[in-house]
Amino acid sequence: MDNRPIGIFDSGIGGLTVFKEIRELLPNEDLIYFGDTARVPYGSKSVQVIRKFSSEIATYLTLQNVKMLVVACNTASALALSTLKSETSLPVIGVIDPGVRAAIKFAGDGPVGVIGTRATIASGAYQDRISRLRCNLRFVARACPLLVPIVEENLMQSDIARMALEMYLSDFKKQQVSSLILACTHYPLLKSLINEFFEGKTVLIDSALETALEVREVLQARRINSDSTQSGHETFFVSDSPEAFSEIAADFLGRPVAGECFLHSWQNEI
Ligand code: DGL
Repeated sequence: MDNRPIGIFDSGIGGLTVFKEIRELLPNEDLIYFGDTARVPYGSKSVQVIRKFSSEIATYLTLQNVKMLVVACNTASALALSTLKSETSLPVIGVIDPGVRAAIKFAGDGPVGVIGTRATIASGAYQDRISRLRCNLRFVARACPLLVPIVEENLMQSDIARMALEMYLSDFKKQQVSSLILACTHYPLLKSLINEFFEGKTVLIDSALETALEVREVLQARRINSDSTQSGHETFFVSDSPEAFSEIAADFLGRPVAGECFLHSWQNEI
């Protein structure tokens, strides 16, 4: 048993989709979330920069005495996961493998679709994993850079969102993708609209849920789950204004984030 917290990080607020699933699945675990709100987005940055930022945050979380690192960002998982694994002895969980495994489970004869940020799709990380697990399975991958700002502007039910989906996903529909990996933290928030677009005929893979299931599995396999019977503590760190974050996070999680939780700003500490 290990009662240290689980460290979860993302380039900003999007990783709260993963945080939320982990909290639901593991109510007694202490969680620390780090959102790099000062340096978001990662999706349009270079490999070197994404690795540097990810390593800095991993070091910071390690100093907070976490027992596991969850890279709740597809872009950082695609480009920095192996670097992070080589830099720590802690278990490091990314969002790619859980998503790919689930997509393959529902793939049938395919093809499988993958949508994500420019950096995620250009990295080929999802495409590689799919080919490694089922070499003959066809896949279609596409960067959808407008979807993150649409979610951040809370335009999930707007005509703009519908038009963007039409533009990005028509080809996936034509090719009748059997499952579609939502390979970006923000996309689960567009799930109902995407489902509508595919008329329910394509299985949507929400990496957030799949990642939370993997976190639980690893904790159990390594016997490092918490034996606390209390609700887990939550601490949030952000690299920019905590006020803006706490408002959005409270909205998203449906409960106040400041107050019972500690909210710190992380600036120039590394
Ligand atoms: N968190 C990023 C991801 O999942 C999306 C936002 C960004 O570009 O930083 O890829």
